[in-house]
Amino acid sequence: MKNKIVAGNWKMNNNKEQTKSLLNKLKSYKIPDDVRIIVAPSFTQLDQSLQILKGTKIGVAAQNMNAASSGAFTGEVSAEMLKGIGVNSVIIGHSERRSLYHESDEILINKVKSAIESNMEIIFCFGEELDDRKSGLHFEIINKQLSSTLFNFSESDWKKIILAYEPVWAIGTGETASPSQAQEMHSYIRKIISNRYNDNLAKNVSILYGGSVKPNNVEEIFKGLDVDGGLIGGASLNAEDFMAIVNAF
Ligand code: PGA
Repeated sequence: MKNKIVAGNWKMNNNKEQTKSLLNKLKSYKIPDDVRIIVAPSFTQLDQSLQILKGTKIGVAAQNMNAASSGAFTGEVSAEMLKGIGVNSVIIGHSERRSLYHESDEILINKVKSAIESNMEIIFCFGEELDDRKSGLHFEIINKQLSSTLFNFSESDWKKIILAYEPVWAIGTGETASPSQAQEMHSYIRKIISNRYNDNLAKNVSILYGGSVKPNNVEEIFKGLDVDGGLIGGASLNAEDFMAIVNAF
């Protein structure tokens, strides 16, 4: 079901004390009834975050996972391990994972498969590079990115999938897609989902926008009819900014 969602991707930020302090601040805000909030702390802070947020409306997601369920994968964490501590959502395919850790389509497909098998909710990220946008290839690239990953899955596999369109040129740069660029792409994404599957799925999937969303630009971005929320990096590290974004709907 299509939801309004604001998710905070903390990336490699916030130690134990900082996590505690930020989450306690978030808890003190009144959360609008119709918006889902998710935070994605680092692996080491997931357990503590779940404890602090118990009984609140704020959900917890992991920023990554390995596709395998267990085995000789030094330094990795599986879906089952996340589920075991009560984490039921995971971000997959973030552009930093794709570029810095060379996550290929094949790796992403395997991660999505494993998350679905573990009944986890997936926030699946994708987005074009600046050169693609400059040369007008952005729609084609987005179509390719989805066709080579999520479009390999059946309609029933999409039940717990949330999409996050994040143009790479807007992530952490302070440069954001204009509200019309975001809306235009989100509407295009629904169109290709409808072509691959059907109208119903296209209408019901939540599509978040990510890339330098801040309190001062969020209102215009969230006005887009096909924009169902945001995946927030930098601004999610500050409780006041993050809650201003949550309240922008
Ligand atoms: P940003 O990050 O808001 O700092 O641009 C967004 C993201 O990487 O998800």
